[in-house]
Amino acid sequence: MNIQSALTMVGKFNRLVDAASLDHHARELLKLRFRRSADDLFGPFDELYATHPEYEAVREELLAALVDAQQQRSPELRLLDLKRDLEPDWFQRPEMVGYVFYIDRFAGTMKGVLEKLDYLEELGATYIHFMPCLKPREGDSDGGYSVMDYRAINPALGSMQDLEAVTAALRKRGMSLCLDLVLNHTAKEHDWAMRARKGEQRYRDYYWTFEERALPDQYDRTLVEVFPAHAPGNFTWYPDMKRWVWTTFNEHQWDLNWSNPRVFLEIVKVMLFLANRGVEALRLDAVAFMWKRMGTRCQNEPEVHMILQALRAASRIVAPALIHKEEAIVSPKDLIPYLGQGRHTGREGNLAYHNSLMVQFWSALASRKTALMTHVLREHFPESFVNATWGTYLRCHDDIGWAVTDEDAAAVGVSGPAHRAFLADFYTGRYPASFARGGDFQSNPETGDRRTNGSCASLCGLETAVESGDTRAMDAAIHRILMGHALIASFGGIPLIYMGDELGLLNDHAYETDEHLRHDGRWMHRPKMDWGKAKRRHDPFSIEGRIHAGVTHVLARRRATPHIHAANPTSILDLGIDGVFAFARKSPVGPLVCLFNFSESWLSIPAATLEAAGVQEWRDRLADVTVELRGGALPFPPQGRIWLS
Ligand code: GLC
Repeated sequence: MNIQSALTMVGKFNRLVDAASLDHHARELLKLRFRRSADDLFGPFDELYATHPEYEAVREELLAALVDAQQQRSPELRLLDLKRDLEPDWFQRPEMVGYVFYIDRFAGTMKGVLEKLDYLEELGATYIHFMPCLKPREGDSDGGYSVMDYRAINPALGSMQDLEAVTAALRKRGMSLCLDLVLNHTAKEHDWAMRARKGEQRYRDYYWTFEERALPDQYDRTLVEVFPAHAPGNFTWYPDMKRWVWTTFNEHQWDLNWSNPRVFLEIVKVMLFLANRGVEALRLDAVAFMWKRMGTRCQNEPEVHMILQALRAASRIVAPALIHKEEAIVSPKDLIPYLGQGRHTGREGNLAYHNSLMVQFWSALASRKTALMTHVLREHFPESFVNATWGTYLRCHDDIGWAVTDEDAAAVGVSGPAHRAFLADFYTGRYPASFARGGDFQSNPETGDRRTNGSCASLCGLETAVESGDTRAMDAAIHRILMGHALIASFGGIPLIYMGDELGLLNDHAYETDEHLRHDGRWMHRPKMDWGKAKRRHDPFSIEGRIHAGVTHVLARRRATPHIHAANPTSILDLGIDGVFAFARKSPVGPLVCLFNFSESWLSIPAATLEAAGVQEWRDRLADVTVELRGGALPFPPQGRIWLS
């Protein structure tokens, strides 16, 4: 944005603020925050939309929308804004722990969640992610990601008022609510889509529609299919409209046209509306796909980052308490920019899923080798980010795509296609010596690609161990689960515990008999909460008790270990022992060296190696004990995990 244009914007904004019903302090603060972020917002906005016929009009409306949203913001949330601006690292602190669930599957309804707060607090959760709960279309809604109204809650779960009651109750307990906001598409039943379908030009321009097949065909040459098995193709023909509509995901999900500034404005309004209900984090869904460019995969285009930076700036002006999590399950090179890179440094997403860490965890668990994990995490990722960090996780509601490139595999002497096929076979249980039990997802005979479904516990071997009654196999499975949790709790970022993993819930096949769900195997790892099992969580001899106590312990030790603050760099170590994954968290109070034994055998790590890596005292911060060396080496059991300071 040039200086003249910036000054005009500031002048215009200030005049709107002066006329707003805000008290003196609120006005001055809003003006200051606008000055802070105006460039971040209007820089990309102008670049993206200056040549659009509605550019001027939308820009004016955008200013008014910001002021309006500020007027709607409650005094309590404005206080939270101040607090977060004073403590901008709040989401990077060791006390942050995420817990993710479907409201109906965990607590029946939104109100029901209020009765489960003690359970969440006992676990140590501070960041609560409700799986999609805005009003979805009827029938199959892609797990709620096909939204027909961004300003209403799914009536089966409750109301907007209930949401406000929940956010207020969570806040009282120091917990923040994260909500999904789908940016790439709406349901075809959304009001905008219905109007587009009827022929209203204004709303046709909100989507990508084509009278002829020529352009879709051209785009298709370079597009990939997200759901090749149950929703092949990227475009859908609607005879009543006589048009093709861009539908990247499912037929009922219509891609929004982000080259239209009106779409940008609509979403800013929705974002701020949700922030004003007390939502503290937005998980922006499927952001990679937001910008379309002929001749590309239409993923991760530079404009996506411009839009995301502008959205973030809008939040920082009106609701700085809000953080943005950007969901992009893409390769490392494409993923890093979502946490702010180059001109977007410190200005884009605050959080993004560490998809590579997740994939590498499962890969190392199956192969018992860590060279690939060490290579990928060391070569492709920076040690830290500005004003941003990872969401670290083992499992989520989606499938696992075996995103290991041929180049990375080759770098450690492995064949990419063979390793990917091995992982897919291992985690369905087809591989002869596998401990895992899972299912194939979206097998694509053309590309040979196979993704995998399954719950954390089943993939870690608990299901097969329980079936066989083999107590040693059971122990190993439990230790794998706990090693995984110790990894995501210390790596750097907010560890996201996926509902039921803290109790070792197994694969659930109930979806196979539900007509709306049976085509989508991801429901295998989206079980209902088993409150019967949860009751046994304090019984130290039960499986649930062992896992729950172990996970709770890991999270408590995380809180007690200041080195883990996400602003402290994570430096991947190569100890030269294939089977051990290691990193150092470089902190002002000295390094924390975290080690994980994937080898399934006892190992002995020379003390000198660890001292060279920065270990100064032989204190295991995870077990909270002093470790005993034997013969100048650290004895390290199978599935061992240790945080040495
Ligand atoms: C994201 C969600 C996934 C959904 C897709 C389309 O990737 O995690 O569950 O199917 O977006 O909305």
